[in-house]
Amino acid sequence: MVVFKVFIILVLFYICNAKLDYQSEFDQFVKSNNRIYKDENERNFRFQTFVENLEEIAKFSQDSKGTAKFGLNKFSDWTKEEKTRLTPYSPKAQELSKQSKALGTCLSSTNTSVVLPKNFDWRDSKIVTPVKDQGQCGSCWAFATIAVVEAQIVKKTGQYQNLSEQELVDCALNLGCNGGAPSLALTYIELNGIANETTYPYEAKDQKCQANIKGDNRGHIDTWACIDLDEDSAAYWLTKIGPIVYDIWVPDALYSYKSGVLWPSELDCLVGITKFAAHAVTIVGFGEENGVPYWLIKNSWGSDWGDNGYFKIHRGDKACAIGLPHTAAVIWPL
Ligand SMILES: *[C@@H]1O[C@H](CO)[C@@H](O)[C@H](O)[C@H]1NC(C)=O
Ligand SMILES: *[C@@H]1O[C@H](CO)[C@@H](O)[C@H](O)[C@H]1NC(C)=O
Ligand SMILES: *[C@@H]1O[C@H](CO)[C@@H](O)[C@H](O)[C@H]1NC(C)=O
Repeated sequence: MVVFKVFIILVLFYICNAKLDYQSEFDQFVKSNNRIYKDENERNFRFQTFVENLEEIAKFSQDSKGTAKFGLNKFSDWTKEEKTRLTPYSPKAQELSKQSKALGTCLSSTNTSVVLPKNFDWRDSKIVTPVKDQGQCGSCWAFATIAVVEAQIVKKTGQYQNLSEQELVDCALNLGCNGGAPSLALTYIELNGIANETTYPYEAKDQKCQANIKGDNRGHIDTWACIDLDEDSAAYWLTKIGPIVYDIWVPDALYSYKSGVLWPSELDCLVGITKFAAHAVTIVGFGEENGVPYWLIKNSWGSDWGDNGYFKIHRGDKACAIGLPHTAAVIWPL
């Protein structure tokens, strides 16, 4: 009996202590992320959500192949549903995207006499522009598009032009904060050019189109290309052209990614598909880390997310790829 009592006390002690741990971690999270909750109910709800996220992070670390690290970040008091809102899949935009393909040139064959480097990173050439933050709007497609266009312009002119995602959100025949397709956005820029951030600032919401397509200082590309989903072709064209867009189904673990190579299983990708969680991102390089091949990817969740705004995903098994060709902006000559 005494043993039993001691056991109960120990268990209670353990549970309370674990709760206390969560509580102090939560307090720290609230402080470092400048969270202000409107009342006690909201705070309790966010605490619950935070604990669920913490437990999920522990699970990711256990389940993954040990090639990536996961942890707390600014999404750690968000519900699954709120996180999925960052990454809306838009069937309509995908349909339009298939139709728009004809405008771009599709590149598939590679030059077999070219030996690709083992590691390649466009950031070394200083053409990759700073990581941006899409905020609480499903405009990843606009950010991925602007990222490849900005990189092309630096590559061609040596000048950084901070270009407008908001013009794409408002004007580019897509669904604004509810998703869109980079190929449509690239077509828009090919036809109209694109304003800079000063002229058309980012608001993270849907608005009426206010583009002045005859305005000055607009960014331009000659055309855009679609690139075969085959990973060797993609690597080849990446080194030739510049950063390219990758469309992925989002595995849950991505929201909590910290560093290393994310290596999702087919099941992890399927979770993204069943939630219609899709995300457009920008591949800026590739390489190998501890023998694991990866794509190096620029995200649009701010530089305070992930690995300074970047992540690596396993290369070689088309990890979570949606099945659309990659897309790239092109300024001729390459
Ligand atoms: C293929 O690459 C080799 C070596 O870089 C180059 O000499 C050749 O012109 C390229 N061929 C084509 C078709 O681009
Ligand atoms: C580019 O524009 C974004 C969005 O308005 C802004 O947050 C960022 O500071 C700008 N970057 C630079 C380097 O000017
Ligand atoms: C953005 O474009 C406006 C209008 O064309 C121009 O006046 C301004 O100098 C540009 N800003 C930057 C930072 O290039």
